[in-house]
Amino acid sequence: MGVAVDEPLVDALLAVAPAAPETPELAQALEPAPLRKRGARTVPEWIREAEQMARGCASLDDLTAALSEFNGSPLKASCENTVVYDGTPGASLMVIGEGPGAEEDRRGKPFVGRAGQLLDKMLAAIGRSRTENTLISNVNYWRPPGNRNPEVDELAVCRPFVDRMIEISRPKLIVAAGGIPAVSLLSSREGIMKLRGNEYAYKTPGGYSVPLIPMLHPAYLLRRPQDKSRAWRDLLLIEKRLGELE
Ligand code: URA
Repeated sequence: MGVAVDEPLVDALLAVAPAAPETPELAQALEPAPLRKRGARTVPEWIREAEQMARGCASLDDLTAALSEFNGSPLKASCENTVVYDGTPGASLMVIGEGPGAEEDRRGKPFVGRAGQLLDKMLAAIGRSRTENTLISNVNYWRPPGNRNPEVDELAVCRPFVDRMIEISRPKLIVAAGGIPAVSLLSSREGIMKLRGNEYAYKTPGGYSVPLIPMLHPAYLLRRPQDKSRAWRDLLLIEKRLGELE
């Protein structure tokens, strides 16, 4: 039996903003980048430092402070802000996106631009909001220049902090919003279109296990409203699993 698709509702969700211009293809982000030397340290050395700093964090405030001191991402120098998280620490749902855009960099919070407004509407449709029951973050904390996709080593230095945030907040379900977080968290060779619609097991290095569901990124939906039925099915799956897990 198929899942009922509430197309009028998804239409209403998409009406929050006009279609966004095309952005670089996801595939570009998934190209392996060479592990570079950055300043006095190699990327693996920066990753080790990130792991050590993240291990020392006991709260999301600690993580925010650690990230403001961490200099292992080349993106940081060109950013106004380090964008760490928004919403409710300890919430059963954690949404992890790709990384800040211009508006997020300006305001220092994730998902506050047009895609973020659509994300809020999508979450509201399944009874979720960042102020009450959802934590929102990203796999990358600094806006790449020109909104290009983050490179593999830029994601790699953030990952220990992403994992530590999961361990501290202990969500019951993670939603990876878009191909970049889905592919990088799951270390998958598949794209978002294959990954979405399924649930995966995610385990942090510290041993916290949590189900992960990939969904279409709201920015993608703004560009391709014809995929709204898929987005709605993603939301229904998330709602159903949260009902079972809570
Ligand atoms: N897109 C994302 O993936 N994350 C943000 O914080 C904003 C837009």
